[in-house]
Amino acid sequence: MRFTPSLGQATAAILFLAAESQCLAENDVVSSQAPLTSESFFCKDPPFRAQLISTSPLLIYLQDFLTQQELQYLQKTSKTSLPSEPDSSEKTTHLSHRGNEVLQCIASRLHTFQGHRPPQINLEAPELFRRSPSSLSPDTKPKKDSASNSHKTPKTDTSTIHSTLHTWTFANQTTPGLKTTGGTLTFPLIPSPITPTEESNAAWCPPTHDPLTPRILDCDAPYSKGLTFLPVPGSAVYFLDSLPDGRYDRRTGHYTGEVTSGEVEGVVFRVGRRAWIEED
Ligand SMILES: *[C@@H]1O[C@H](CO)[C@@H](O)[C@H](O)[C@H]1NC(C)=O
Repeated sequence: MRFTPSLGQATAAILFLAAESQCLAENDVVSSQAPLTSESFFCKDPPFRAQLISTSPLLIYLQDFLTQQELQYLQKTSKTSLPSEPDSSEKTTHLSHRGNEVLQCIASRLHTFQGHRPPQINLEAPELFRRSPSSLSPDTKPKKDSASNSHKTPKTDTSTIHSTLHTWTFANQTTPGLKTTGGTLTFPLIPSPITPTEESNAAWCPPTHDPLTPRILDCDAPYSKGLTFLPVPGSAVYFLDSLPDGRYDRRTGHYTGEVTSGEVEGVVFRVGRRAWIEED
């Protein structure tokens, strides 16, 4: 699939972006994104695999949703746009997706995936993040998985977000001992498909870390804690943030676990509800 928006779509997208970006401070949108070698980038859907994890709220796991080329670009972008601050365990910045072929390609794939709804994709500026071990001493460090840790509880009941695609673009993989640990994504109010009864768990918890069938769920997280994903580069968690009547669906509340070694990087794409509301 190639991203070939009509002029109307493109204009609408730009108008929406202009309105949307008022919410962001001017210097939130980075200008130091890695330059695109546009002659070499080809927007092409990878053969991704979808697994329905929850129907209510809707939550779908998308394995290999990003291509190698997209991952390489986003890793490079992270290097150029997220400063290395030694005393910070989480760094985020908003990317400007206007005219960015790679981000538009992913947005177009997401729009197709969710049935071209809302009719014009009103994507918020994608949020790039990098998480690394906290350099604070254990005494001053906040408690692991503390509620303050990216658990977003909106002040109002009405959601401005239609859906979210939480992608991972990097985690240290190979070197033994230097592999990423932690950096999980937990939805405490969504039941895990891993149950306390052992039999059904073989598919989710293969005994070894076979690179062909990587674990996507944290098999060591207690069942009572809900649904916990491991950071798998290239994969994504897609969920609907709002209920059909426009209220925020609190069941989609989530937080990230502390990174205890290595690093985790990713990009969160949020689709606004606006066209959805106008359509109602
Ligand atoms: C993880 O990977 C990043 C990027 O390649 C590197 O800078 C970092 O040193 C690695 N960390 C570990 C613990 O291997």
